[in-house]
Amino acid sequence: MTALFSPLELRDTTVPNRLMVSPMCQYSCEARDGLATEWHHVHLGSRAVGGAGLVMSEATAVEKRGRITPEDLGIWNDAQADALERTTRFVKEQGAVPGIQLAHAGRKASKTRPWDGSHPLYPDDGGWEVVAPSGDPWPYDEEDKGDAPPTREMTQGDIEQVIGSFRQAAERARDAGFEVAEVHAAHGYLLHEFLSPVTNHREDDYGGDFEGRTRLAREVTEAVREVWPDEKPVFVRISGTDWFDDRDAWTAEQSARLADRLHEVGADLVDVSSGGIAPGSYPDRVGPNYQLPLAEAVREGAESGVAIGTVGGITTPEQAEAVVANGRADLAIVGREFLRDPYFGLRAADALDATDEVSGPPQYRRAFGF
Ligand code: FNR
Repeated sequence: MTALFSPLELRDTTVPNRLMVSPMCQYSCEARDGLATEWHHVHLGSRAVGGAGLVMSEATAVEKRGRITPEDLGIWNDAQADALERTTRFVKEQGAVPGIQLAHAGRKASKTRPWDGSHPLYPDDGGWEVVAPSGDPWPYDEEDKGDAPPTREMTQGDIEQVIGSFRQAAERARDAGFEVAEVHAAHGYLLHEFLSPVTNHREDDYGGDFEGRTRLAREVTEAVREVWPDEKPVFVRISGTDWFDDRDAWTAEQSARLADRLHEVGADLVDVSSGGIAPGSYPDRVGPNYQLPLAEAVREGAESGVAIGTVGGITTPEQAEAVVANGRADLAIVGREFLRDPYFGLRAADALDATDEVSGPPQYRRAFGF
């Protein structure tokens, strides 16, 4: 038995193997209404056909102003949840577990999609006012992209509204058939902006020390857990570090402490990514397993035994197998390799001589030998 194709039991949910498709924005809601299209159905569906045990949707906005671009997927209304239902059904028919990443972009909201330049969008040009823990905008000028859209410090009322939006989004996602909810608290988006002293300069209960800065991420996770079925897991994606040594910033040590606190409020797995809080908040090296040391640091520093996922630079079956077999993480999360090859899971089973451990689609049996 391979480690990669052994099931992962979380609560009463069985993820059939340890390969997860990383959440990846598709910026493909052409009508700018947050509704899933044929693209999302085929994109997520083909990766379930392709052998992933868990197929995580892209960052899905819990509020309209929490979209990165106008073309982002949303789950702030019932029509959006309904449009996702046939995809969760199809993913499950393939034996995979459908997950949804619930997201709010904070001060990184309101820009054009990457292939249109990721330029800031202003309210009179299809953009909107963005909200953040503090009023300082994303420094687009450092990237020669002009001025940021208007950025407003969140009030207590805004904070309550965001917690409510995550809760309602989770309820809709549950009713649409998703089995894992992942709270997006990484990459410089809203919840990470609260966690990091780089972006959080508040002086109320949601800023200041570790307790204050982590409060929103904990309260959002708790709110999602309250409505998420007991037998189904909740994940949280965090940035394990801001990659800044020269200023007060978010670190691996704080990440490990946070992982325990998230576990206390019902998170079952912490998905450890990194960076994104400001320009320059990126690793020097993005080679194989580049974020695995962070996942290990969180695993070693946390005392609760919360499950850990690692993402970043996993591109070969042997690498994914080694990550799990050597106990370095519980879940191997694969992003770009799953864009290059939707059938990476089936190819991995083939390469690891594990085709008898997966229930691949019979339609493809002659190619893979299930
Ligand atoms: C991403 N990433 C990302 N992360 C996330 O948490 N939510 C998201 O919606 C997205 N969107 C996204 C789109 C695209 C096109 C890419 C390439 C990446 C980051 C992604 O999930 C992953 O963490 C990184 O790509 C690193 O993993 P790989 O690609 O080295 O396996």
